Amino acid sequence: MTTHVQNTRTLQSAIITRLASPFDVSAISALQARVFGPGRFARSAYRVREGHGVMSRFCRVADRNGRLLASLRITEVAIGGTRGAALLGPVSVDPDFRGQGFGTQLISETLADMTSAGIALVVLVGDEPYYGRFGFHPVQRGHIVFPGPVNPQRILAAELIPGALANFHGLITAAPEPAGGGQF
Ligand SMILES: CC(C)(COP(=O)(O)OP(=O)(O)OC[C@H]1O[C@@H](n2cnc3c(N)ncnc32)[C@H](O)[C@@H]1OP(=O)(O)O)[C@@H](O)C(=O)NCCC(=O)NCCS
Repeated sequence: MTTHVQNTRTLQSAIITRLASPFDVSAISALQARVFGPGRFARSAYRVREGHGVMSRFCRVADRNGRLLASLRITEVAIGGTRGAALLGPVSVDPDFRGQGFGTQLISETLADMTSAGIALVVLVGDEPYYGRFGFHPVQRGHIVFPGPVNPQRILAAELIPGALANFHGLITAAPEPAGGGQF
């Protein structure tokens, strides 16, 4: 009996990471509002996504008993008209749950998913001291262009296919989902 109760407690407090579903949209929006405030709409990822679906097949969340603790959004993009790349961000971790590895777990799992799916290049605007550990490096100034103002030193890319960066040059735009894709 004791064992059963303990197991139940363990299950109730388990934190899992999983792909996001349409049911997560409002909780993800609320988390992002809490983490970034009204300034979130000026962020690069929002500007690239403007007018496109709110989530892609790679978006991922961490939750505990239905409470969303962290989310990672991915937008499939074309760069200079070439498809096969993705824009990572934002990553949002509930302030009460930071420094516990959720950001790392979501990013690592999502990069693995995208590698399996054949995504060649992942781009983001962020801090190299954090994202460097996942294989992101600064991109040469002017190589990838964002639709709005961006600090060029914060444009980072990770090649999921070695050498891919050379094939992606120019303006970054949201790409329509591939046939059979899961834009929702
Ligand atoms: C940045 C963020 C996603 C990290 O998620 P997290 O779950 O707290 O981080 P993890 O537990 O996976 O990793 C913690 C490590 O990252 C480091 N770290 C966190 N933010 C960092 C930053 N901006 N620059 C450098 N290192 C950073 C921590 O110092 C810690 O280092 P350690 O492993 O050497 O101790 C989270 O803090 C967050 O949501 N921040 C506010 C929103 C934000 O800035 N998002 C990123 C921009 S899109």
